[in-house]
Amino acid sequence: MRVPIRPALKELKEYKPGKFVKGAIKLSSNENPLGPSPKVLTEILESIKDGEIPLSVYPWERNEEELREEIAGYTGMEKDNIVIGAGVDGVLDTLVKIFIADSAEAIIPVPTFSLYESLVKIAGGKPRYLTRKSDFSISVADLSSACTEKTRMLFLASPNNPTGNCISEDEVREIAQSVPEAMVIIDEAYVEFADSSLLKQVEENENVLVLRTFSKAFGLAGLRVGYAVVPKWLASLYKKVSMPFTVNSIAIIAAMAALKDKEHIRKSVELVKHGRKFLTENLQLKVYPSQANFVLLDVAPAKSSDVYDALLKRGIVVRNCSSFRGAGDSLIRISVGTREQNDRVVEAFDSLF
Ligand SMILES: Cc1ncc(COP(=O)(O)O)c(C=O)c1O
Repeated sequence: MRVPIRPALKELKEYKPGKFVKGAIKLSSNENPLGPSPKVLTEILESIKDGEIPLSVYPWERNEEELREEIAGYTGMEKDNIVIGAGVDGVLDTLVKIFIADSAEAIIPVPTFSLYESLVKIAGGKPRYLTRKSDFSISVADLSSACTEKTRMLFLASPNNPTGNCISEDEVREIAQSVPEAMVIIDEAYVEFADSSLLKQVEENENVLVLRTFSKAFGLAGLRVGYAVVPKWLASLYKKVSMPFTVNSIAIIAAMAALKDKEHIRKSVELVKHGRKFLTENLQLKVYPSQANFVLLDVAPAKSSDVYDALLKRGIVVRNCSSFRGAGDSLIRISVGTREQNDRVVEAFDSLF
């Protein structure tokens, strides 16, 4: 006889990250192929050596404040609009706790980042899925009519994972105004690679917030730092609900150093933009326009699982998107790599198709 668990957890699926295969090129998790700024590494090592971050002591509030101040400078928002967490994942975990309880609903246009669905289910809420159009854009009319009086969150990744497209400022404004009792979550994990940001919508609407991360453009996925730009009324509540010390001392120091190295950010973004163009132009298949650090391609009539296996045999790990709800079985997502890695990808596809 086992202790009964909450019924809502029975059909949960484990989050499956992009695969890591020793010796193969990893283009499955949209990381920065340049790694973090070398200044980040120096800063971490020196801070530990000098005792500036004593590892036996809990992270200092002062350091957290400094990071929020640095992020405020980077985003052009105020420190009181910034909250931090262990990656966007960690920030989302806290946000879902704030808005979702039994029977609350969340709208999720699919395909998209699968964690939204899991977190809503874990909290006991009900995800309502909305199928994107064939170009993966969202019908604002469909979205509004999917909302009910129980809707508390809408998840809009922009650029979206795995499709790479963005939502427009006008669309966000229209959505936010049509659902004043739901929080519109704009996930800008990939915004550094995009043409524009939707941050201004946080100033315009009390029910819009923007998520950001240090995992992509800043190359710090292993340290788990993310933040959200939220309306001020939400910031104090967030702190009450969030676990204390979610961002560790080393991650705080690293994120601050990463924000200061503007040249490394510029180099990382430029590499992605060049590589994205190269892959889009040279993969002889349907490649969807992307504003992120990956491209999505349709390998139909082949199956994405077969193409995934064939690429793996050639030493390249990509993302088979059939695990994304609503993505079908012919989409492959490839993170933009270094020039050499992108060349390897194109060569592999040339030999396959
Ligand atoms: C849209 C989106 N949001 C968030 C994340 C996770 O970000 P973090 O590493 O900050 O938790 C990912 C990771 O792939 C993503 O694709």
